[in-house]
Amino acid sequence: MIYKLFRITLLLAGMFLLAFGMVNPQPARAGGSQYAILAWNDLGMHCYNNDFRDMAVLPPYNTLWVQVVKVGDPPQVVTDGIKVTYSYPNNTYSAGKTNFWAFDQKLFGVDLPLNVGLKGKGLAGEMDLQADHFIAEGIPVTEFSDSAPTVADPYQLATVIVTDATSGEELTRTRVVTPVSSEMRCDKCHSNKGTANPTIATGRVATNILTLHDKKEGTRLMTQRPVLCAKCHGSNALGMPGKSTLPNLSKAMHAKHAAVTPNTMAGCYNCHPGPKTQCLRDTMRKEGMTCISCHGGMKKVASNPQPWLNEPKCSSCHENTGQNNPLYRLSTGHGGIYCEACHDSTHAIAPSSRPQDGIKFQMLQGHEGPIDTCTVCHLTPPDGPGPHGED
Ligand code: HEC
Ligand code: HEC
Ligand code: HEC
Ligand code: HEC
Ligand code: HEC
Ligand code: HEC
Ligand code: HEC
Repeated sequence: MIYKLFRITLLLAGMFLLAFGMVNPQPARAGGSQYAILAWNDLGMHCYNNDFRDMAVLPPYNTLWVQVVKVGDPPQVVTDGIKVTYSYPNNTYSAGKTNFWAFDQKLFGVDLPLNVGLKGKGLAGEMDLQADHFIAEGIPVTEFSDSAPTVADPYQLATVIVTDATSGEELTRTRVVTPVSSEMRCDKCHSNKGTANPTIATGRVATNILTLHDKKEGTRLMTQRPVLCAKCHGSNALGMPGKSTLPNLSKAMHAKHAAVTPNTMAGCYNCHPGPKTQCLRDTMRKEGMTCISCHGGMKKVASNPQPWLNEPKCSSCHENTGQNNPLYRLSTGHGGIYCEACHDSTHAIAPSSRPQDGIKFQMLQGHEGPIDTCTVCHLTPPDGPGPHGED
């Protein structure tokens, strides 16, 4: 027994030696790390239903992306020999904060373990390598922190840590916003005997909506609860084609509500989060831009032939962006770095008006984004052209 313990101690000591021995004698940088971690959420906001008893537009489903750069001359995007993990120190569980797991089987045909999302990810875990980046897809996080589980805080912070896959030594870490909100204000019009359903009062907003839908369309949604809208009205957000004879969910919703929704940001915040959440916290908001500046109004959105896949492009207003994919979130620029790594997610283009979004930039370069400090990645400031070709 003692012998065994001794062996384990030796083994551990050996591992530490190995870990320290492997540290490269390179000049220390500000922050001390030889690695830069770039982390972001893909969409800039994820909206979900909190109560799944009656209906589901979207499940809890957040996605984080990470790129790791080894600082050097030249810098290098690293994917081998490292492990990337994420966790929410103040948001460790979701079951009870939403009743999603009581209805996952009926809505999505899978019986998930509590606190596990549709892609198998929990509220903490390892991220998966996908070519040039790491990803944690479908994290079922809610906007309710453990320390205040009834107060909505839509800008939840994940801690992301990069370790050496062999030694387990921590190489670098960051804190990144995971924006999530269930603030859909259907209740403004669909409450009991509300303006949209003056003769309907079932006691709940969702059942008022289903009753109205049944009345108008001859469906029997009230008897099929919980109802996943995308089963009939296709949604690319869920990868569900829906029924080919029916309008997709984006078209159905924006077309039907065009007459009652002003083409203003407040109009969009009737359903998108929202008057409190204010998901548009982008630097362009400061220039007076609203949803309509980029997306157009309700009718324009309703006529999108490919909702979620056909979206505004930076290059339709800015020159020389180098956007190389129809979607901003999938585009890469300078040195193979994703646009969102330097600029942050859509709707949060840095500098964001939410201080939480700025934390990761502060950690890397001592000020808010975008990442404009060459030495975040380059060991010595290079002479050549910067991220967009200018000096
Ligand atoms: C600004 C007010 C307003 C808001 C906010 C609103 N609705 Fe509506 N909704 C209406 C009106 C008005 C109708 C049409 C009623 C009619 O045709 O008699 C309607 C109709 C509907 C219908 C029935 C469509 C049909 O004809 O079958 C559904 C379903 C619906 N809304 C869902 C929602 C959902 C879900 C939300 C929140 C995400 C929402 N609405 C938010 C005003 C609103
Ligand atoms: C069982 C299939 C089914 C489900 C599930 C379903 N719908 Fe529908 N929906 C229909 C049908 C059928 C129509 C009528 C379409 C038509 O006339 O073209 C319709 C019409 C609508 C319309 C009116 C579209 C328009 O332009 O007039 C809206 C809005 C709508 N649905 C929203 C929803 C929402 C929100 C949900 C989830 C709560 C939902 N639907 C779930 C079958 C469904
Ligand atoms: C009555 C509720 C409602 C209102 C008002 C509303 N939306 Fe939406 N919107 C939705 C729903 C529900 C979805 C999700 C559809 C899906 O899952 O495919 C959506 C999805 C979207 C999408 C992504 C899918 C696509 O079509 O590309 C965009 C962009 C969008 N909305 C923009 C807007 C803008 C801009 C406004 C204001 C002018 C607005 N919405 C107002 C309910 C609404
Ligand atoms: C509908 C037009 C439009 C679209 C689409 C658009 N922008 Fe802008 N953007 C503007 C305007 C207008 C300004 C303010 C004037 C300026 O600085 O050029 C601005 C400003 C900016 C700034 C601040 C520039 C500075 O000098 O501080 C950044 C960064 C930016 N946009 C990035 C983006 C990114 C990234 C995208 C794509 C996700 C995008 N923009 C999409 C119109 C647009
Ligand atoms: C400065 C331009 C700009 C403004 C302002 C803007 N959006 Fe977007 N939005 C985009 C771009 C660009 C995309 C596509 C991102 C991509 O390609 O990955 C997008 C995508 C979306 C999507 C699809 C999901 C996603 O994030 O990719 C929704 C929903 C959406 N916007 C809603 C809104 C709403 C609601 C507002 C106002 C509160 C708004 N947007 C304001 C540029 C804008
Ligand atoms: C290595 C970091 C980095 C990457 C990657 C990057 N950018 Fe930039 N971008 C910057 C910096 C720094 C600026 C200058 C910001 C400023 O002027 O405040 C900038 C400026 C911009 C602007 C504003 C131009 C203006 O009118 O002032 C847009 C739009 C833009 N980038 C889009 C993109 C797009 C789209 C991608 C991906 C194809 C991308 N960027 C990739 C760092 C980056
Ligand atoms: C977020 C990380 C990052 C930032 C910030 C960054 N770069 Fe780079 N840069 C890279 C990567 C990665 C490469 C690709 C290196 C390779 O494989 O050749 C690169 C390549 C280059 C190159 C060509 C190859 C070389 O190293 O000679 C030049 C020149 C350059 N960057 C200049 C700049 C300048 C100037 C800035 C600041 C304005 C800057 N970069 C900021 C990551 C970055």
